[in-house]
Amino acid sequence: MWHPAFAIGHPRIDAEHQELFDRLEKLLNAALQGEASPAVAEMLDFLGFYVANHFAHEEELMEWSNYEGLGEHRAQHLLFSRNLETLKREFTQQGAYGGALSHLVAELTEWLTSHVLEVDQVMGAHLRRKGIR
Ligand SMILES: [Fe+2]
Repeated sequence: MWHPAFAIGHPRIDAEHQELFDRLEKLLNAALQGEASPAVAEMLDFLGFYVANHFAHEEELMEWSNYEGLGEHRAQHLLFSRNLETLKREFTQQGAYGGALSHLVAELTEWLTSHVLEVDQVMGAHLRRKGIR
């Protein structure tokens, strides 16, 4: 769940983070309530699309502002995207739902929380120093 402490001070990135946490929460609730596969598959598809766009936005900002931590940050994004792909594949192939799916979604949420609180905060400080809004 989104928390004001997650804000990195860049309005668009913060809005996207908020949306991501909301979507993950909805997915978690759908998994816990054992919602029908098509609804969950749609949520996973949207999440994949949204995450790819969001990471691209962050990477553009980092590239544009000559951020020295870009390589490491990008590697973390790639890892998350791969994990999300694995989750989608497992869901499609094995119909993972309920406990298994909610466990994976909880893991992704945990990862996103620490990513936002750590590397995104450092990136936010850099963007502020450069006066980029
Ligand atoms: Fe990031």
